[in-house]
Amino acid sequence: MIRQAIIPLAGLGTRLLPLTSVYAKELLPINGKIGLEYIIEECIDAGIKEIILIISKKKEIIRKYFHNDKFYQKIIKKKKDLRISSEYKKIIKYKKMIKFVYQNNPRGTGDAVLKTKNIVKDNFFLMLLPDDLIIKRNCSKDMILIHNKKKCSVMASMKVNKKTVNRWGIYSKKSDINKNNFYINDVVEKPDINSAPSNNAVIGRYILSKKIFKKLQNQKKGKGGEIHITDAIRKLINDGDKFIGHSFKGKYLDCGTMDGYIKSSMEISKI
Ligand code: G1P
Repeated sequence: MIRQAIIPLAGLGTRLLPLTSVYAKELLPINGKIGLEYIIEECIDAGIKEIILIISKKKEIIRKYFHNDKFYQKIIKKKKDLRISSEYKKIIKYKKMIKFVYQNNPRGTGDAVLKTKNIVKDNFFLMLLPDDLIIKRNCSKDMILIHNKKKCSVMASMKVNKKTVNRWGIYSKKSDINKNNFYINDVVEKPDINSAPSNNAVIGRYILSKKIFKKLQNQKKGKGGEIHITDAIRKLINDGDKFIGHSFKGKYLDCGTMDGYIKSSMEISKI
């Protein structure tokens, strides 16, 4: 059973500057709702019971958003505005499920995951990267179903333009399970176009085993001087751990760039 989800949020969001100079990108509204809420809703709808947000001192604003300040509680009670009070009820519900851990030096996704080592309880957990929104279908829910059947790690996959492989983690396939799922032979972080094993890219949804923490403890810096989760996953695959790539059915929206962020608002407003 997958009960816990972790969400790394300590990144600086430089691709969205200057918006992110004073604000956390995950709190930017997309069609009237913060981006992070879409991710939290995906978790809850997939049956997740505890959500671990990895933030930093610079991003305390995220903690504040879920703080549900007493001052506002009073005002909201007086206002009797149905929309606002139902939004606040949601925040109170989220707050009860959320735990915070800190990654004060953003040294990469692998390093962020390692910070949750002492609070991840079960053998497997879910990780979601908040820049990657997947709409119209709950990707985490579908991945949990596959995990329950096969009892192994699962990661989301999407075919990308060959020219852009150096922006993603890229899979090498071992064998197909069915139309939407395959066993992974290897995964490489941001390969260049000539050495990329395919154009199947890693998208930010992972079901990982607790064993990843051991690999991360010894993980050296990789591409761009960061500690990548992909490199630790690679080691587990080498040890014989099974990993499944899941070609998800929903629509992918990249909220980490200005162009993608603007497009996401437009796409979501159409639903
Ligand atoms: C991260 C992962 C990469 C993955 C991507 C999906 O990269 O390291 O493997 O393909 O997310 O969005 P980042 O976006 O942090 O550069």
